Amino acid sequence: MADKMLQGKVAVVGAGAKNLGGLISRTLGADGASIVVHYHSASTKTPADETVRAVEASGGKAFAMQGDLTKVEHVVKLFDETIKRYGRLDIAVNTVGKVLKKPFIETTEKDYDEMFAINAKAAYFFIQEAGKRMNEGGKIITILTSLLAAFTGLYSTYAGSKASVEHFTRAAAKEFGPRGISVTSVAPGPMDTPFFYPAESPEAVAYHKSQSMNGKLTDISDIVPIVKFLATDGWWITGQTIFANGGYTTR
Ligand SMILES: NC(=O)c1ccc[n+]([C@@H]2O[C@H](COP(=O)([O-])OP(=O)(O)OC[C@H]3O[C@@H](n4cnc5c(N)ncnc54)[C@H](OP(=O)(O)O)[C@@H]3O)[C@@H](O)[C@H]2O)c1
Repeated sequence: MADKMLQGKVAVVGAGAKNLGGLISRTLGADGASIVVHYHSASTKTPADETVRAVEASGGKAFAMQGDLTKVEHVVKLFDETIKRYGRLDIAVNTVGKVLKKPFIETTEKDYDEMFAINAKAAYFFIQEAGKRMNEGGKIITILTSLLAAFTGLYSTYAGSKASVEHFTRAAAKEFGPRGISVTSVAPGPMDTPFFYPAESPEAVAYHKSQSMNGKLTDISDIVPIVKFLATDGWWITGQTIFANGGYTTR
């Protein structure tokens, strides 16, 4: 059986500075993993540094590293630096994403390329680099969206680009499985973070809330225990997408 504890493990968290990724970094760090807090925009450096300090304050180790993960060389550098600083890799969680709510016929080539670069290409090469460096018994987890189980318009490039990662997850799970590495995805419902609101009208926010069992949006604290479980005791789950959304969508 694989070693399932976080103590002494090394975790890279893609977009691990704030919101969902920030809480994943802090939680895995507090439980004993050494954390690489990846961040993207210059404006996210402050939350990244705060997350590093929070992990250190809880007795763990962390460092922050910037990167545009749509560029493969930045993905490679992130994992190179992880091995250089910590000497190993056990867990890789990718929370990178961008949402676009736009009618099909108004979507531009630029929109399409950007959405697929952030949600699909970055995710592909994150899984690839993690798979190259990861120790036996490692875990790779990508954050997708519960819209993958929705029959709806307006999110064609968002849900479409995230959907491809389900297949990357399955393929990588098969290929890395003989090394004891599990590869999974988690698909949250609409989450109460600044990511969600700019794309939605107040009426749409009310609708999204009304579709969950308690009339609320998904909270990041609803998702983090699932990620932690997949990174530890849930190691036998592989190749799957776990929908966690309070009943918002199902399939
Ligand atoms: N909030 C929701 O309603 C919801 C629902 C379901 C699923 N999700 C998914 O959950 C994940 C986390 O979302 P969140 O709500 O916690 O919001 P978030 O903090 O805004 O997460 C998105 C992250 O992606 C990063 N990013 C964007 N472009 C990037 C690039 N080119 N290279 C590297 N990183 C890049 C952003 O970094 P910067 O801000 O520094 O640019 C940001 O940290 C996302 O994958 C999202 O699709 C969100």
